[in-house]
Amino acid sequence: MADEPVPVGASNERVRATYDRVAGVYERLLGPVEAPSQRRAVALLAAEADLGLAGARVVEVGCGPGGRLADLRRRVGQDGTVVGLDAAPAMADRAQGRGGTAVLGDARRLPLAAGSVDAVCALDVLELFSASDLRRVLREVTRVLRPGGLLCVAAMTTADVPDSRFLRAYERLYRGVPGAGRVGCRPVDVGGALAETGFAVVRRERAVRAGVWPVACVVARPR
Ligand SMILES: C[S@@+](CC[C@H](N)C(=O)[O-])C[C@H]1O[C@@H](n2cnc3c(N)ncnc32)[C@H](O)[C@@H]1O
Repeated sequence: MADEPVPVGASNERVRATYDRVAGVYERLLGPVEAPSQRRAVALLAAEADLGLAGARVVEVGCGPGGRLADLRRRVGQDGTVVGLDAAPAMADRAQGRGGTAVLGDARRLPLAAGSVDAVCALDVLELFSASDLRRVLREVTRVLRPGGLLCVAAMTTADVPDSRFLRAYERLYRGVPGAGRVGCRPVDVGGALAETGFAVVRRERAVRAGVWPVACVVARPR
């Protein structure tokens, strides 16, 4: 594993444009592969939350086509609210009505009031941001969480999975294949960014997708 996370290969605007174009393919091809570990991350969140998530106000940033919104809706029940936010219009359109309200928005500038939500989910999205944008997103999460609120993450993280041949190969492809940077997604040091922005990790598990693709499922809260 490289000492430094691989720099993101394109501006966030270009990355979003990529996801806007590939929304349908992304949902069909990657949705089923990512679902079990994302569900596991949500289960860890529910296990940590007071009284599970019943009645909670939950936001999923970078919700993509909305694969987890129905799971979150089941967890929060009739008294809770679920909002999915994505920067790509085609993703937000797909997510609409899948268990919550989908809105177009930027995770770096959340259109939400301070202290207004109980939990934020970031599932397979933190890997898209540059190091400075990742910290902006995490500071925004801290701002919108109520005291005691929780962040739930599923991500390819270099610190949590330091020994993965899959992640090393992924990084080589990301650096070497022309245009790969426009997908944005590459392993990042989520643990380091969480520590730097004042989060304490309260639950952590490693999951493996399709037998080869390691991800960390993490629940954290601002200190
Ligand atoms: C790898 S996909 C993951 C989608 C979803 N979480 C899932 O697992 O199905 C990353 C998503 O982040 C969105 N995204 C990229 N930049 C964003 C930003 N600045 N704010 C919010 N969403 C963003 C993309 O449009 C894309 O839908």
